[in-house]
Amino acid sequence: MAGPRAVALLALLALPVPAAAGGPAAAACDVPPDGRFDCGPERLLAREGCEARGCCYAPAGPGPGPPWCFFPRGYRSYRAENLTVTAGGYTARLRRVVASFLPGDVGSLRLDVGLETPTRLRITLRDPARPRYEVPLATPRVGGRAATTLYGVQVNQDPFGLVVYRQRGGQVLVNTTVAPLFFTDQFLQISTCLPSHFISGLGEHLTPLVLDTAWTRVTLWNRDMAPTVNLYGSHPFYLGMEDGGLAHGVFLLNSNAMDVLLQPSPALTWRTTGGILDFYVFLGPDPKSVVRQYLDVVGFPFMPPYWGLGFHLCRWGYSSTDITRQVVDNMTAARFPLDVQWNDMDYMDAKRDFTFNKKSFKDYPEMVRDFHRRGLRYIMIVDPGISSSGPPGTYKPYDEGLKRGVFIQNATGQPLIGKVWPGPTAFPDFTNPETHEWWHDMVKDFHNQVPFDGMWIDMNEPSNFVEGSQDGCPNNSLEQPPYVPGVFGGRLQAGTICASSQQYLSSHYNLHSLYGLTEAIASHDALLRVRGKRPFVISRSTFAGHGHYAGHWTGDVSSNWEQLYYSIPEVLLFNLFGVPLVGADICGFVGNTSEELCVRWTQLGAFYPFMRNHNDHGTRPQEPYTFSPAAQAAMRNALRLRYSLLPFLYTLFHRAHSAGETVARPLFLEFPKDPNTWAVDRQLMWGGALLITPVLEPGKTKVSGYFPAGTWYSLAGVCAPCCTAGSQVAARGACASPGQWILLPAPLDTINVHVRVGHILPLQEPAFSTTESRKKGMALVVALTLDGFARGDLFWDDGESWQTFERGDYTEILFLATHVSDGGWRGASRHGAHLDGVLLEAVTVLGVTSPPRQVLANGVLVSDFSYRSDTQVLKVPVSLPMWEQFVITWF
Ligand code: NOJ
Repeated sequence: MAGPRAVALLALLALPVPAAAGGPAAAACDVPPDGRFDCGPERLLAREGCEARGCCYAPAGPGPGPPWCFFPRGYRSYRAENLTVTAGGYTARLRRVVASFLPGDVGSLRLDVGLETPTRLRITLRDPARPRYEVPLATPRVGGRAATTLYGVQVNQDPFGLVVYRQRGGQVLVNTTVAPLFFTDQFLQISTCLPSHFISGLGEHLTPLVLDTAWTRVTLWNRDMAPTVNLYGSHPFYLGMEDGGLAHGVFLLNSNAMDVLLQPSPALTWRTTGGILDFYVFLGPDPKSVVRQYLDVVGFPFMPPYWGLGFHLCRWGYSSTDITRQVVDNMTAARFPLDVQWNDMDYMDAKRDFTFNKKSFKDYPEMVRDFHRRGLRYIMIVDPGISSSGPPGTYKPYDEGLKRGVFIQNATGQPLIGKVWPGPTAFPDFTNPETHEWWHDMVKDFHNQVPFDGMWIDMNEPSNFVEGSQDGCPNNSLEQPPYVPGVFGGRLQAGTICASSQQYLSSHYNLHSLYGLTEAIASHDALLRVRGKRPFVISRSTFAGHGHYAGHWTGDVSSNWEQLYYSIPEVLLFNLFGVPLVGADICGFVGNTSEELCVRWTQLGAFYPFMRNHNDHGTRPQEPYTFSPAAQAAMRNALRLRYSLLPFLYTLFHRAHSAGETVARPLFLEFPKDPNTWAVDRQLMWGGALLITPVLEPGKTKVSGYFPAGTWYSLAGVCAPCCTAGSQVAARGACASPGQWILLPAPLDTINVHVRVGHILPLQEPAFSTTESRKKGMALVVALTLDGFARGDLFWDDGESWQTFERGDYTEILFLATHVSDGGWRGASRHGAHLDGVLLEAVTVLGVTSPPRQVLANGVLVSDFSYRSDTQVLKVPVSLPMWEQFVITWF
């Protein structure tokens, strides 16, 4: 067939086909153990059963390892026919040539290959005769095809397989010829080899940043589960690194319960229980571009309000307004910043949403108004389960919901009743537009009483304390599919509602993992309508695309050192997933924290994009003021450091929102060509400029961190606008010099934060809330490269209006430090609005190699600058309006 310009599409001949019954030919079974693909996905097989499938049998040791029963080379499944060119790419018909061993084979499939952009390829496999469920996520509509592409595609005809490779260099990124394709009604499987062992993604799990390819199974099916197995969210996206620092990504747009299997050859197998196979392949070619290309498909992150980046305090057990007020007072008395006070279920009347306890929370509305007067915001928990047990007329959310038909239905068409905190509960179906209206009305009613500022949506996997429903679940193929992924509890309905319950768009079987996302969308929209300002929603359950609407906290983590560490890869992974507003419960949630752990957790938590201390009921208090003076001082430092850096953090969120960037960033995103960075997950970066090296073990006063080649300056003691940054740590000099592991001093009052040369950070004097800090003086930290260059930017708006960027109601300042022709140096800025009254008060320049004779600010002599030749730090006190252009020169 006629191939298009840049994409090779070849119909290849089939590989030799082994005999089916009685076992394949010995040569076909000569597959290296690491490259064997399991021929018994749904059950263990003895030799006879294995060979009856036409597969090879070779017992291996116990535990994770090669499958005993595996496919021979060339095992047949589908054959590709009628390969033709379409407006968007290619299409072909796939015909099953040999029946599979699972029920419900789809005999004929339509393959579409869409050359959507030069770096993005979409591959779909559908049943052309019978529409199947597809994930209702709005993805980009593409008219034609990309003229030139970074990728090439080949189709293997029989057995069918697809190969995607880089045009330049030929690196194969996807090759599905390694194992047969399955497309049955409830079992779809496709395998591919991987170009390297470095693969990251496939959340949500408690994992290191780099997944283990030594026979690992990763299960996706949202679940209320303390972090061990399949967790609260599903993100079927991975990023793979290639030799030389190139990167690619693969996204399977499928929301059914699935397993992803990794094996050491290296290879990956997707196994899902429904829907269609709908893949996007992103060619990067660098890892940052892969993330952006993924977010082009699922949506760029929402812009949080400025106050959302301040410190949040919560616990389960603030059992009255008196206690909640006392907590806020204690924070103020102990001089800790606090932006948002939260309440858990304690505020509710009989644990029911949209009610409050008229005794213990009798002055609840007044308390929230008081907080507002103090410059604070307020957030409370909302669970999706709506209490269904009261007599009619006693609980409006249920009565109205029933009337408006918003609940998920059981097999008899009645609301499915499960059990959550308030007892029997019905579950709103957020795929129904009417449910959004009803949810908005409930949010509005409650907001009219209690003027809250954001929503904390919990238990939305959805979690259910009885299996399926109070009446159990029907016995059907959705409840007992032929293949059950490795979900905790072994059954789909474990810890949640019946898979065969019915939602507006489809069965819960298909929609389950979208529950949190759809609730987040409804909550985001309701808040926007009710408050008219930028919504703030934090959700436990997530799915691909979640970050466009809401943030995430990582659930019920335990107060231990191991989970302190795991919070870093979690936060980094959620940034790759496009959910940058993420953090773990600081000091841990389950169990008692210790003072040392809580200090270290607060230091790391100061660098979570979302910073909240939250605690379980019945455990020891862990508010910052409950610890010794020394611990408090350390926590105060960490909080002041975060508040100093908020202008920088906010600007990073703007870059995420407007350009699909990450906020908290794994090192390999910035240094992909340095393979030593690929697996670093005990450190994190903020944007490209800051490297954070926390202590993650008890009793340590030193910490080892990886510093990629270049110069890094410590920010120790930074306190805008009187910035005292300065000591230089790492390999100074040539870019070619290798990165280094460096042992850093890390006493209990210190978190190591380093700024990378070439960057300018905007800071602001910290205060006790962002309401105050936003008015304070600003400072710049300028880290010059050896040849005297640095740049940075600041995004600024009113901090909470809707779509300021989209409406052009913002300021964006570019800071540049360049070597000017007269031998001096210059910083310059450009500006817009919303900075009236804010002054630039200090500029700290790192890496000034010789003492300046003169410093000028807008041409006026600055006489009180200071310079230290040992640290090469120049400090320039100024008083310049941030809303006007300025030039600072030294020579
Ligand atoms: C489970 C949540 O994960 C936790 O954060 C919360 O405190 C409890 N539910 C009680 O609402």
